[in-house]
Amino acid sequence: MNFDVIVIGAGAAGLMCAAAAGRRGRRVLVLDHNDQPGRKILISGGGRCNFTNLGVAPDRYLSGNPHFCTSALKRYRPTDFLDLLRQHRIPWHERSHGELFCDRSAEDIVTMLLAECAAAGVDLRYGLKAGAVSGDGPFTVATGAGGLTAASVVLATGGLSIPKIGASGFAHAVARRYDIPVVTPRPGLVPLTFAETDLALIRPLAGIAVEAIVSVGRARFREAVLLTHRGLSGPAVLQASSYWQQGESIAIDWLPDLDAAAYLLGRKTERPKAEVRTVLAEHLPARLAEALTVRAGCDGRPIGQTTHAALTALAAEVKNWSLTPTGTEGWRTAEVTVGGIDTAALSSKTMEVKAHPGLFVVGEAADVAGWLGGYNFHWAWASGWVAGQFA
Ligand code: FDA
Repeated sequence: MNFDVIVIGAGAAGLMCAAAAGRRGRRVLVLDHNDQPGRKILISGGGRCNFTNLGVAPDRYLSGNPHFCTSALKRYRPTDFLDLLRQHRIPWHERSHGELFCDRSAEDIVTMLLAECAAAGVDLRYGLKAGAVSGDGPFTVATGAGGLTAASVVLATGGLSIPKIGASGFAHAVARRYDIPVVTPRPGLVPLTFAETDLALIRPLAGIAVEAIVSVGRARFREAVLLTHRGLSGPAVLQASSYWQQGESIAIDWLPDLDAAAYLLGRKTERPKAEVRTVLAEHLPARLAEALTVRAGCDGRPIGQTTHAALTALAAEVKNWSLTPTGTEGWRTAEVTVGGIDTAALSSKTMEVKAHPGLFVVGEAADVAGWLGGYNFHWAWASGWVAGQFA
């Protein structure tokens, strides 16, 4: 059978794009090297898929061109996706920060996308790996079952995170073959790792989670920070990790709602016999309070016998705990790829490669990475839907 459009990748963006193009009467083939579609959707959001966010806006995305995503996000909004859920009678709920999740299971989302593809007459083939892409309208995709040719090819193979469920650098390799620049990919939304000197402090605190502000450069995130045996994790750290560059330090404000210096100096008068760590533990988990007090050199003393200078130094430590990660946990646990196919090469209206009409890039393969909280799926839906109007 001949196809008008070949979509490579049966993930979030590919399935959305295929259904939209099929609805326009295009003959669409989707192929995926996995033996089932939407593997990342199925494991997302703890199995409930955080499928979009009510706060979707361009400033929630990282990209070499921060305005690139604006057009697609305007044309395909969270309410459009919710309309689709309504049509398929899929129940959902809102959690904190505008995050929307399935009530039942992420399977609902995959089933819905497959139903949309079926209604649009889309052909799907699994267990079929795309090899080289050649030609320039029409394009030929090499596969184990021979070459497949179509006027349009959509690169929807996502980013590099979680290779064990099928992530590949395929789209980036095709881009390079067509002389399309690729912004060097790096893991995002990923736990940060530290040198042994910092780990010696962090490790005994494993399991503690505290709402704090994590800053890196000008980015600041107020959410939970989780201390682990390997380093720092939790939403605030994952968010900051996408902005973090090798060699940069991060800062943590463990008590965002408190003027720590004023508080400690006030308690010095009110509770002079209490140990400094006990006072700090009025607002922080005891083990963390102890570690911060030890680090600032004022442990083991009643607060009444601790100098103003020492308490001010402790307050500075609490409000601005600065440390330099040595790296991240990498692609094994990253939720997203920061970087990817340079958006300067793409039309923001169509997702088509400007220099190669008929070649499209959607989803995480492009240099657009969202915050934690449903933003990445929303980018997949929006960019996939837009490309589906033109492919
Ligand atoms: P996606 O990765 O979904 O699909 C790419 C497809 O291409 C895959 O099916 C792959 O098998 C296929 N493929 C790759 N190479 C190929 C080749 N050579 N030939 C054929 N097929 C090939 N985001 C969010 O908004 N909310 C959330 O709750 C989560 N949760 C989450 C949890 C975890 C553990 C991870 C790793 C990620 C998330 N994300 C998320 C991020 C989200 O999953 C991700 O941004 C989207 O799935 C990206 O959609 P794409 O369609 O671009 O790629």
